[in-house]
Amino acid sequence: MAAMTPQITINTLREMKIKGEKFACLTAYDASLAHVVDAAGVEVILVGDSLGMVVQGHASTLPVTMDDMVYHSACVARGRSRALLMTDMPFMSYATAEQALHNAARLMQEGGAHMVKLEGGAVQVDIVRQLTARGIPVCAHLGLQPQSVHKLGGYRVQGRDASVAQKMREDAHALQDAGADILLLECVPASLAEEITKAVAVSVIGIGAGAGCDAQVLVLYDMLGVTVGKRPKFSRDFMQGQPTIQAAIEAYVHAVKNGSFPAAEHTFS
Ligand code: KIV
Repeated sequence: MAAMTPQITINTLREMKIKGEKFACLTAYDASLAHVVDAAGVEVILVGDSLGMVVQGHASTLPVTMDDMVYHSACVARGRSRALLMTDMPFMSYATAEQALHNAARLMQEGGAHMVKLEGGAVQVDIVRQLTARGIPVCAHLGLQPQSVHKLGGYRVQGRDASVAQKMREDAHALQDAGADILLLECVPASLAEEITKAVAVSVIGIGAGAGCDAQVLVLYDMLGVTVGKRPKFSRDFMQGQPTIQAAIEAYVHAVKNGSFPAAEHTFS
């Protein structure tokens, strides 16, 4: 198991990037599994709006409400002790700067979040600037943005097309300049994700974005082999050969840190 250090903060993650040390992120939605994820050495716990699909059984993340996110974030906050707690802002909870400030404050005050995550590129620059200027750390989610699934026409790899790739590069810089503390790239060709990771000073968390990112995230249920239907290509069942859930999560943390996960078969080109 990873050596336990004091609380993980955005400074810890910044220093890890400078030293070239990878960190692990996993979702959690309740106190008991948050406790196990934290004890296994995961640095960042994400209360993802993926809970709409894996906990609530919806077909997308769109029905998830602010009250849902506050409830699950508060549950996870009670279970964690070391990891940084990042909580998703759900669909349309940050459509205006006023809404974003009000709802991010709820996630921190009632939900115990240390950081919020929102989806979108240049369109979110002003909101990211307003949140971070008021002391709210932000992770900006680029690439496949599940809250835009209907606009994207499905869950598809983003950035294969040269113009989309160029826009993603520009968005990454604009969001960093607006104060975003972390970027998250979902379902992006590995070479593009690696290029963006090297080009920005902030940490980049990948999911389906190859091993060149500073960190990886997976949906907890997928990596424990609890997937309804087909497991996504970018995930791996870490329960295989492991005696306990904690051992499986420790294997994930180890694989992220030594660069063996994600492998070529979990990666898009
Ligand atoms: O909602 C979520 O769990 C996420 C991850 C898939 C990155 O955003």
